[in-house]
Amino acid sequence: MCGIIGIVSVQGGFKEPIGKVVRRCLERLEYRGYDSVGIAVIKDYGIEVRKGKGKIAEVSVRLGFDNVDGTTAIGHTRWATHGKPSDENAHPHTDCTGTIAVVHNGIISNFLELKEELIRRGHVFRSETDTEVVAHLIEEYVKMGYKPFDAVKAMLSRIQGTYALVIMISTEPHRLYFARNTSPLIVGLGSNANFVASDIPAFLEFTNMVIALRDGEYGYIEPGYVYIEKDGRPVKIEERVRAISWTPDMASKEGYPHFMLKEIHEQPYAISQTLAGLTDRALDDAVKLLMDSRRIFILGAGTSYHAGLVGDYLLTELGFDVHPFISSEYRKFMNMAGQGDVALAISQSGETIDTLIAVRALRSRGVKVVAVSNVIDSAIPRESDYVIYTRAGPEIGVAATKTFTTQLTVLLALALKLGVAVGRLSSSEYSNAMDELNRVPKILDSVIAGVEGRVKALSEVMSKKQSAYYLGRGIGVPLSMEGALKMKEIAYVHAEAYPAGESKHGPIALVEEGYPVVFSILDDENVDALLGNVMEMRARDAYTIGLVPSKYVSKFRDLLNVTMEMPTLNYRVAPIVYVVPMQLLAYYTAVNRGYDPDKPRNLAKTVTVE
Ligand code: G6P
Repeated sequence: MCGIIGIVSVQGGFKEPIGKVVRRCLERLEYRGYDSVGIAVIKDYGIEVRKGKGKIAEVSVRLGFDNVDGTTAIGHTRWATHGKPSDENAHPHTDCTGTIAVVHNGIISNFLELKEELIRRGHVFRSETDTEVVAHLIEEYVKMGYKPFDAVKAMLSRIQGTYALVIMISTEPHRLYFARNTSPLIVGLGSNANFVASDIPAFLEFTNMVIALRDGEYGYIEPGYVYIEKDGRPVKIEERVRAISWTPDMASKEGYPHFMLKEIHEQPYAISQTLAGLTDRALDDAVKLLMDSRRIFILGAGTSYHAGLVGDYLLTELGFDVHPFISSEYRKFMNMAGQGDVALAISQSGETIDTLIAVRALRSRGVKVVAVSNVIDSAIPRESDYVIYTRAGPEIGVAATKTFTTQLTVLLALALKLGVAVGRLSSSEYSNAMDELNRVPKILDSVIAGVEGRVKALSEVMSKKQSAYYLGRGIGVPLSMEGALKMKEIAYVHAEAYPAGESKHGPIALVEEGYPVVFSILDDENVDALLGNVMEMRARDAYTIGLVPSKYVSKFRDLLNVTMEMPTLNYRVAPIVYVVPMQLLAYYTAVNRGYDPDKPRNLAKTVTVE
């Protein structure tokens, strides 16, 4: 995880000191990690490094990032893997001479043996990180007489593992080297400056022209020039340049106190954009592939896995043989996976290492992979056979919100089309559900306006609780799982989701007076069974909260402590709408408890280590 940025600019390329520019870029990468932060800038007298433990807002003021002038700079925001969060372990890391500085995202797996070798050669290490070997290795090759680029290449031939690297060498003050293997890295082409960063929002304020680097690529940026090489051969970059339609506003809070709240409110727009992008062409290849499939795997991590479980429900119901799994658990399926199988790989970022590794394994067995992703040209779409993009725009809050509902939108549109193609859905069933799906942006607008105040009040109660259950049946189970995950990850309230029927087989033992239980009730065949489950919880004095379709409000109202009236929707469409009050509940509970919902402790938005 970690976010990295490198900038090379012409003299006077920015109206403000480059340290301030780097600080702003890092703020947009902070979702990738925030336990320490640092910058390095090339000065006449060498490289100036300022770094320390803590979040950007605090460290940048303490160390005066905003005053550092120059034309070439690198920056890093860290999520610790090797070495605890500390001033010494913060990046950038330098060599013994202080003329080489490195920022890194990933893990150098052979760093221990390299470190021992370098120590034997007299190098002095100042951190516990794996990254520092990169600076010393380059130093070693420079000492042997290699030119800087050759020294970088020699270093790359020695390191193993995953990396996005940006390297500064003070003898070449207008150039930054970079290299990518598995961890994401994007070049941004600006008019007065070029950039290289872990993610596009970092430099979106300056340019929307990007090149997504691929595994094994390395090279350098200079002001007005980019050079990329792979296996010793130059890469033609003209056809790789893409204009991204995201705007800088999309990556700013626009008056909201947190990105998460802004992104929750953006869902109607994100869904309408996603629907607009779901042309027949976007879906047809996947529909055809799935129609002829022997078996379907669905994989993802975190929230994307929950979206996958909703997809599992939709496709199983159509009669397909579906096997959903958490990406990191792919090995279990490797003996059964093969030709004729199709996998849906769901990943907002397109870079989650667990999902990427599983995609590679599935494809090596002959499985065709359809990626569902939010980031154009990211690794998982690139390595898949087909891709369907959600169009949620950049999501900065660590907890996924708008990317979840847009994933559900894609999966539902796909399932409905597939249902018609295999004769499981009539054309009227299809068009009724599709009509409702197309109305979701409007419906969601009024749901948010209607529930936000009540959810805020409810969050006062939730913020005093230690733990909670989220219960549902059918497609309400993955919906509950997502609601519980939000509560757990940002409000730190221990929340568990169960199929409501299963609650009697253990979970109910914990229920006592005031224990919160959130029920997701949908307009499906489970309503009466859920009524029974609500009664059971009520009989134990639980604090019962229900998301209830308006049609059933009279049935449930007296049994629930809090009835959140929701529009009555087709049960396949409902999760896209019903998850939103749960997102808001987690958000306001986190805020009430004094936590920053955009930056939950120990979490990172994109997990690029296994
Ligand atoms: C991390 C994030 C989650 C996200 C998951 C999968 O755990 O904190 O919010 O759902 O990764 O990410 P992906 O980009 O693959 O959807």
